[in-house]
Parts: sequence; structure tokens; C-alpha cells
Amino acid sequence: MESFFICGGNKLEGELDIQTSKNAVLPILAGSILCEEDIIIHKFPKYEDTLTMLKILEDLGAKTYIYEEDVKIECGSIQKSEIPVNLASKIRSSIFSLGAILSRFKKAKVPYPGGCAIGARPIDLHIKGLKQLGAKIVDKHGFLYCDGSNMKSSVVNIDFPSVGATENIILASVFLKGRTKIINCAKEPEIVDLANFLNSLGAKIYGAGDSIIEIEGVEKLHGGEYTPITDRIITGTYVLATLMCGGDVTLNKVNSDHIASLMHNLKNNCCKITVKGDKLRVIANKRPKAISKIETQPYPGFPTDLQPQIMAMLSIARGTSVVVENLFESRFKHIGELKKLGADILVNDKTAIIKGKNMLYGANVICQDLRGGAGLVLAGLVAKGYTTVDDIFHIDRGYYHMEKDLQCLGANIERITKA
Ligand code: EPZ
Repeated sequence: MESFFICGGNKLEGELDIQTSKNAVLPILAGSILCEEDIIIHKFPKYEDTLTMLKILEDLGAKTYIYEEDVKIECGSIQKSEIPVNLASKIRSSIFSLGAILSRFKKAKVPYPGGCAIGARPIDLHIKGLKQLGAKIVDKHGFLYCDGSNMKSSVVNIDFPSVGATENIILASVFLKGRTKIINCAKEPEIVDLANFLNSLGAKIYGAGDSIIEIEGVEKLHGGEYTPITDRIITGTYVLATLMCGGDVTLNKVNSDHIASLMHNLKNNCCKITVKGDKLRVIANKRPKAISKIETQPYPGFPTDLQPQIMAMLSIARGTSVVVENLFESRFKHIGELKKLGADILVNDKTAIIKGKNMLYGANVICQDLRGGAGLVLAGLVAKGYTTVDDIFHIDRGYYHMEKDLQCLGANIERITKA
């Protein structure tokens, strides 16, 4: 079992390039199923989840080749329309493939998806949306058996702006003759990136990033190359790490619009954030201040994927803060672990009250999920003494060698293997 071994107390100094966005690449890989020619994704991030998604494409029949920072996908040889349980159950984004497989083969058999255990993670909005397009879906023994032979362009209403459901319905609509309109879409930057990717291959998708998206059906997509956006959650993670540890860090390849909500919440805190093009510089040299209230919301609200990381920061802030997790009903599992480090946090349903401490103390903590694990690493970076963070396979799903990024900024962190 791999763990991180951290000696807290170092300031962070230096420069770092931000990796490509996991949550942009995953639906883009699903989108490659729509294409029968070759696709090249530049700056392909080798997170566990993106590598698993590549395996799903290979299982469908695609040939994939990773060259240094790029991946080439030969989509012409895709001929299967079902996904195996062992791969689907590893990641949430396997469910996005459903819409793409239906578009290509007019039928699909996919298992229920996996993903972080941060809640029930239902897929009712995905199923409801695809049914509004005319798909026939039978849910049997954990598999979805889908018949897409009668699908046609329609008006689709999503009850809640779900990221995955929006992406799934877009992928299912690309080849539907006529104009499909999706109402109450999620507005995340990753959805805009998916639309930009598909449009670069010849799709006609309008309005991505707004709550209404329209898709003009096309016959087919041609091959092409694409460079996805960088990861706004990794960017936010390292901004918060610098605020916590103190120091002077420049992050490159950043789109600061994508973390506007975090920057707004840090505006009067003890850090100076300057943006020049795609460079974001954070200078911090004082103990952070509490934030009266943070509520996670769909984009452009405060991202739920940064909730554990900002909670780690608030655990050492001056004053008391409140964090409300509105998106996922079990996304407070990191709180028990933060308390092992000395954090003072009270939980009442979806609300956490964090009384900032001027010191945390090293301990052995265990990752419960991807972003909760990242929050524990941040807390370990400031805790006095040694902290081990176990089960870091969770973190590897969405950060590529996080310890290397932090080492290059001066953190004292090692990846170790425990018996
Ligand atoms: C995506 O998950 C991201 N994952 C998540 O990131 C992110 O936390 C989430 O969006 C919200 O921003 C990927 O993109 C691979 P949702 P997704 O559908 O699509 C409810 C990470 O750490 N819902 O927007 O699954 C759901 O329970 C991961 O990188 C239904 O009720 O999120 C939640 O309460 C974690 N029925 C809310 O909607 C459905 O059919 C938002 O979920 C679908 C969702």
C-alpha cells in the first residue's frame, strides 16, 4: 500500500505547470467513440482515471498509443457496444460513454458506474435525459440495456444541472437529425471543452457554458487533434497549499476565470494573487483568515471538488468558518481524519463549523476519496512533525504524482510503500 510521508512546516516557493483537466479529458475520451478516424489528444494526463478510460476505449476495440505527452486513438476499430463491469465500476465517467455508444451503434449495454464514494451518485438524470431523446432503457441487475434505434432530436429538460448528465445528453445528440435543445445544463468549463472538442471534429454544438445548449445533428465526425484545458481543481489545490504553508508560488497554464469563485473567497485573505496571462502567482506570509461561509454550488459557484481543500485551510485559519456541502451527501469523510491532526470541526448534516487552530500536529491519516485525500495532504504540509497519508491510490486518480509537484515547490513529502 502506498502512502505519503510528510514533514510539515516548509514554505512553498517556485514555479509549476498545471496538468490537463481530468474532468475535461474523461468526457472527451468518451466523445472519441463518436469518431471513426484517428484522434490525437495533446498533453494527455496520465491520472489513474484517464488511463482507465483509455482501457474502456481499448475494450470497445479502439487502438491507443501514448507518445510522451500525447495519446493517439484509432477509433475506426471500435466495434463493441458494451462496457465490462471491471472497468466501468472503477470510474464515474464510464456512464458518459453510454450516450456516445448509443450515438454510434444505436444500442448499448453498460454497467452502473463507479467513482468517489461521496454519495449515492445516482444516474436517474442521465437515464431521464436519454429517454427524452427516445432511448429505451431497461435497468436489470446493475446493467443498463439500451435501444437507441428510435432516438430523435428533441427538447430535453434536466431536473438539476448535472455535469455528467449534460455531457451524456450532448454525446447522445451529436448525430440526431434536426436540432436538439437541452435545458438547465451544467455550465462547467469541462462541458465547454467537450463541445469545443466535438465541434473541432465537425459537430455543431451551440451554447455550451450556458444553461441552454443546442445541437444541430450531423452525419459524422472527422478525425483531428485537440489540447484540453488545464485542471482548475489542481490549480485551486495548490493556491490553497501556498496560502496555508506561506511562500511565493507561480502556477503556469492557468485559466484564472475557472477558479473565480475561489479567488473571490480569498480576496481579503492573507495572500496576494496576481494573474498575468496564463500565469497565476500567489504570495502568502501570514496565517490565513477564517471565511464566514462557503457554500458549494454548481459552476460558477464554489466547486464541491475544492471543499475538502479549503476546509483544510480553514482548519488553521484565524477565526471560525462555516462550510456547507450542497452537492454530495457524503463528502465530509475527510473531517474525521482532519480531527486526528487536531482540527476542531463540528458537523451538522451538510454544514461543518470549523474553529481555526494555530497549529495542527502530525498523525497517521487515511484517504477516503480523491479530493478529501488532497485536503489531508494540505493539512499534513502545515502540521507540526510527521504525517503519513495512507491509501493514496484515491489521490492518484486525479493528481499525477502529487508529491513530485509539491517537492518541486519545496515541500518535504515522499511517496513510500508500507508493508
Ligand atoms: C462531476 O461528477 C465530476 N466528475 C465530479 O468530480 C464533480 O464533483 C461533479 O461533477 C460536480 O461538479 C467528473 O466530471 C468525472 P453531477 P458528476 O452529476 O457528473 C446529483 C472529482 O473529484 N445527480 O454534476 O457525477 C448528484 O448526486 C469528481 O473530480 C443525480 O441526482 O456530478 C449530485 O448531488 C468528484 N442524478 C449532483 O447531482 C444523476 O443522474 C451533481 O452531480 C446525476 C447526478
